[in-house]
Amino acid sequence: MDNKFSHFYQRSEDQRRAIIADAAHLDETELQLLKHRAETGDAKALIENYVTAYQLPEGVAVNLTLNGRTVVVPMVTEEPSVIAAASNGAKLASDAGGVTATVEPRLLMGQIVLQNVSVFASVDDWVALHRQQLLDVAAAAHPSLIARGGGPRRLRVRNLGDGFVSIDLFVDVQAAMGANMMNTMLEAVAGVVQSQLHPNTLFSILSNAADQSLATATVSIPVNHLATSQMAGKTVADRISAASQVAQLDPYRAVTHNKGIMNGVDAVVLAMGNDWRAIESAAHAYAVTNGQYRGLSQWQVTDDQLVGTLTLPLPVGTAGGATRVLPVAQVNQRMAQISDVSQLMAIVVAVGLVQNLAALKALVTTGIQQGHMKMQLRSLAMSVGAETPAEISAVTTSLTGKKDPSEAAAKRALQEFRMEKDD
Ligand code: MEV
Repeated sequence: MDNKFSHFYQRSEDQRRAIIADAAHLDETELQLLKHRAETGDAKALIENYVTAYQLPEGVAVNLTLNGRTVVVPMVTEEPSVIAAASNGAKLASDAGGVTATVEPRLLMGQIVLQNVSVFASVDDWVALHRQQLLDVAAAAHPSLIARGGGPRRLRVRNLGDGFVSIDLFVDVQAAMGANMMNTMLEAVAGVVQSQLHPNTLFSILSNAADQSLATATVSIPVNHLATSQMAGKTVADRISAASQVAQLDPYRAVTHNKGIMNGVDAVVLAMGNDWRAIESAAHAYAVTNGQYRGLSQWQVTDDQLVGTLTLPLPVGTAGGATRVLPVAQVNQRMAQISDVSQLMAIVVAVGLVQNLAALKALVTTGIQQGHMKMQLRSLAMSVGAETPAEISAVTTSLTGKKDPSEAAAKRALQEFRMEKDD
């Protein structure tokens, strides 16, 4: 490694940018971009070797009625159409009375993994005998959690095979995502296990499976609300239900079906300063619960209603970690009027469901490209410099229907519009 980068973490931000600019031959404009985008607040302390703030656009999904309340949902995403689709799906749901979401009491699970265990019962029995002592050690490792009403709740021992054993600790982490608390507690408990039982401890870490942090959203839409200019409502409903069935049968389709759900889920989770990789990994693991990867949501036609359900593991947090440090994440919580973690879980699962509804409706009626193309053309127009709504609209209108709208064509359309305006 080039020694320009040695002790990189000890350099000032300006020095780091200068080193990178030199090594990568960035020009002055590129260097200034990094500098100007850099933040002044505490967020930079979240990570290492900070050089700039990478910006993603934030918008809001509107029209969501959730458990009888109207919610404005902040969403951060780079993908065109996601927010428009969420708002469309939310409107369909709201016109039918809205989405209902329920949140189960949640616990986070973490594991202490032992190896070379020859007799499983020797660990199982020892943990059963020392259960209270181990829970007390876990509690003492994070007293502030106990003061907030949370804390370790139970232990479980599992034989993983091949001499591996997992001692699972379940903790009520209250409003936090809880990874740090859990890992602190696990390491404290592992220390006691090690000193008293003398096993070969391999590692201690939370499990992101989060199958004890479930939220479920349901919606029921009269089929006639789904009618399009080309298709009867009942036909649309039947086709959405059939598409949902395909996602149960075919893992190839299930992955895309779930990706559409995660379009909405991740965008909200990101806006709330949460760890979206944790949510992604939990969701996809949950999708394979019964041995085959399946769609996370299901849609069925019952009487004259299209009924949709989505259950997701959502180990999110509204306190601690990045939620405390990212100023916009805090404003976003207020925008969505979130006062506790179960409300955030309800919003996330509801957005996942309406996002999926909008995607499936588009897929089984007009096809996805119609709406997507409109947004892609808007992005293309803006990328060539269209600024005002009139300019964006002129460029997108001119490109609509073109087989392969290019950047050059977009530039030409913008120039023509500006020239016509000047005349
Ligand atoms: C695109 O980002 C998401 C969709 O492919 C989801 C789906 O197919 O259900 C439209």
